[in-house]
Amino acid sequence: MAQSALFKVDNKEIALPIIVGSENEKAIDVRNLRAETGCITYDDGYGNTGSCLSSVTYIDGEEGILRYRGYPIEQLAENSSFVETAYLIIHGELPTLEQRRQFSLALTENAAIHSGMEHLFEGFPSGAHPMAILSAMLNSLGCYYPHLATNDHQRDLENYAQTAALIISKVRTVAAYSYRASRGLPYIYPRRDLPYCENFLHMMFSEPYQPYVALPEVAAALNLFLLLHADHEQNCSTSTVRMVASSGASLFASTAAGVCALWGPLHGGANMAVIEMLKSIHAEGDDGSKFVEAAKSGTADKRLMGFGHRVYKNYDPRAKIIKKSFYSALSSLKIKDDPLLNIAMHLEEAALKDDYFLARKLYPNVDFYSGLIMRALGIPENMFTVMFAIGRMPGWIANWKETAVNPKGRIYRPRQVYTGPTKRDYLPLHQRK
Ligand code: ACO
Repeated sequence: MAQSALFKVDNKEIALPIIVGSENEKAIDVRNLRAETGCITYDDGYGNTGSCLSSVTYIDGEEGILRYRGYPIEQLAENSSFVETAYLIIHGELPTLEQRRQFSLALTENAAIHSGMEHLFEGFPSGAHPMAILSAMLNSLGCYYPHLATNDHQRDLENYAQTAALIISKVRTVAAYSYRASRGLPYIYPRRDLPYCENFLHMMFSEPYQPYVALPEVAAALNLFLLLHADHEQNCSTSTVRMVASSGASLFASTAAGVCALWGPLHGGANMAVIEMLKSIHAEGDDGSKFVEAAKSGTADKRLMGFGHRVYKNYDPRAKIIKKSFYSALSSLKIKDDPLLNIAMHLEEAALKDDYFLARKLYPNVDFYSGLIMRALGIPENMFTVMFAIGRMPGWIANWKETAVNPKGRIYRPRQVYTGPTKRDYLPLHQRK
């Protein structure tokens, strides 16, 4: 028998159906609540609200579980690559050999950007933030492919595979160009012979007179970083993508909005905050010990950045995985005497055996290591969030599709509890005090 929740408002009792997900997660279906009782739900921050049904990613924060399309993150990290995982997330299944070949070919063929777009980069002032450039450029990209960005879901869906591959490929070129534009450096064109991550590093760091050759461990660390960030269910940016998509907007416009949401320090900025924290500890001549003590005061400005997580309450599965690759990248880059790294290691060690952190289940999260990895790879700090955006693109694309294909899909339009003044009459200017 289907389960239901009884709800009583002003002596009227109604039964609300309970929806059960494939992992037994339960949700009270309140879609008829307002019609039947006149009440709406209030859930500031949406912590108790399921905004959609989704088959992309499953997270169990208590158990430290993260799965893309059912596959455990540990297995994907061990056996897959970012490109293959992107395909899985975008299309729902791991690719066959032929599908994988076609997808890689599409990425290669779409790597270059229209020369007209190069002029757009020049319009930004030097020092412009690469996230602002990335968002603007993703939206502009749609102007160069109007047949893929019709804002008619039916038509945009017919070209979904092509548009998805185009965006996954071009986002890395646009990201590298954003960096080069913000530094006044000449653009480096993509190469057909390089895999996804190596090609990105080439566009970032090669010079016209000197090619950059990525060490295998460096490319592997970047690959893993992108794979681990490929989706994380209904976070702020993914919900933004769905919100924008619900109005009928194209993949270009919706993912550009996702970039803006990710830009905020509470979302994509945490890995950068880790480096800033380490720098300020270093500037104060502390080895981390004093900061750990201060972090136990409970004040928000002294928090140990990169520790704790809203969803993962025992450990962040991504942190466990990235930590291994971090040490391997460090040893191949022969980085030993970075003072920030020494502080980070000290913080990690001290916090992991401190009762305060143990009692509150505060463990290093993925951002603790990913900021350090980006730094070791030579990625400048203002590009950290851009790297996150490249990684998150498959998840945004898959969530756009789920919104666009939903035959019963309605425009997202939450309600509110109004707390402003009640009705009052307009006063002419001379009567106002
Ligand atoms: N350092 C020191 N103390 C902390 C930290 C921290 N990083 N995080 C939580 N605490 C303490 C709190 O002071 C609180 O202590 P109390 O019980 O004595 O009052 C307790 O742990 C619980 O804290 P909450 O804020 O309720 O935990 P919540 O789950 O809401 O917060 C959050 C999670 C925001 C991630 C928090 O741990 C934090 O601010 N971490 C540092 C920032 C960070 O790394 N953010 C990135 C997370 S990954 C991501 O979101 C992409």
